[in-house]
Amino acid sequence: APGTPPAPLKFNGTKLVHDRDHPWTSLRKGDMRGPCPGLNTLASHGYLPRDGVATPAQLIQAVQEGFNMENGIARFVTYAAHLVDGNLVTDLVSIGGKTRKTGDDTPAPAIIGGMNTHGTFEGDASLTRADAFFGDNHSLNQTLFDQASEHCTHWGLYNMTVAAELRYHRIQESIATNPQFDFRHLRFFTAYAEATFAYTFFVDGRISNRTTAGLDMTNATLFFRDSKFPRDFWRPPFPTGPIGFNEIAQAHPMVPGRNVQGINSFTHDPSSGDLTDLCLIYNHLANVVVRGLYPNPKGVLRKNLIINLGHLYSGTPKQSGCEEVFPYGKL
Ligand code: HEM
Ligand code: MG
Repeated sequence: APGTPPAPLKFNGTKLVHDRDHPWTSLRKGDMRGPCPGLNTLASHGYLPRDGVATPAQLIQAVQEGFNMENGIARFVTYAAHLVDGNLVTDLVSIGGKTRKTGDDTPAPAIIGGMNTHGTFEGDASLTRADAFFGDNHSLNQTLFDQASEHCTHWGLYNMTVAAELRYHRIQESIATNPQFDFRHLRFFTAYAEATFAYTFFVDGRISNRTTAGLDMTNATLFFRDSKFPRDFWRPPFPTGPIGFNEIAQAHPMVPGRNVQGINSFTHDPSSGDLTDLCLIYNHLANVVVRGLYPNPKGVLRKNLIINLGHLYSGTPKQSGCEEVFPYGKL
């Protein structure tokens, strides 16, 4: 049965996380890494299983312990990823590509492809990964990383201001080059959240001005390319999440939409939730995406879907006041 989500940390201040118990090691054959530099780093330091295959409980514990990610946001992204990319019977998900290590697949149309799977959680206009249309959607793309560095050279370090410009630039780039550009639903939310993560979580916890200080390119290279903590790295000084999310979104307002007829045909999709409407994004995820992957589950699969959907709901922000949905009924 799926484990219960870990509680918030007891000691939730800053501390050394690149410590003796968590040395970086290089990849062995079969180890999975993927589109998330945060999870990649946690796996390469042993906060997650080093093979990159983990349970939701391990993911939440690791992002809390290693990066002081706040419990609610950790739950929301973990159960979102697990429901669309993981194996709901074995309770395992790959942070990278599909692997037999997550156990026997349940029947199609379930994908169980790990976090590299395009269009479930992973999506377009990532900052350092290419759109799936161009091939590799999960490895660091040097051209994109250099472009991010150039934004930083121009603006200083990677902070909220740079994040807002780079986020917008990548969206415009995808509109102009990716005929299949899709920027709706969960991706509309995660694209802005992830833009905040690099200055929120990758900046040493002993630095107090969290949003102006910024991430330098030496450390950015370690996290984004090498899945590695800088020497003597301390986690943030309090449990935290997408600080500056609204500022980044409001710097260059966008509506959710997609290219409907090739490049430069970006069209608003009013059926998609936007940033004022996280509950619509949660509803779409549960009632459309998960339902689409699991149209008619039976037995333990149905039971675990219900349990994991409950945990997902528990990660929606209290202040949003979302109403819980039950696409598979209740236990
Ligand atoms: C991107 C999953 C926590 C930093 C992503 C992506 C996934 C993902 C699937 C790819 C989305 C895309 O760009 O297309 C998760 C899950 C988490 C988690 C399930 C919690 C369990 C974290 C943490 C950090 C982080 C704690 C920072 C320490 C990032 C960044 C990106 C990203 C910076 C964007 C990369 C880019 O745009 O090039 N995450 N993540 N994530 N994640 Fe995570
Ligand atoms: Mg992506």
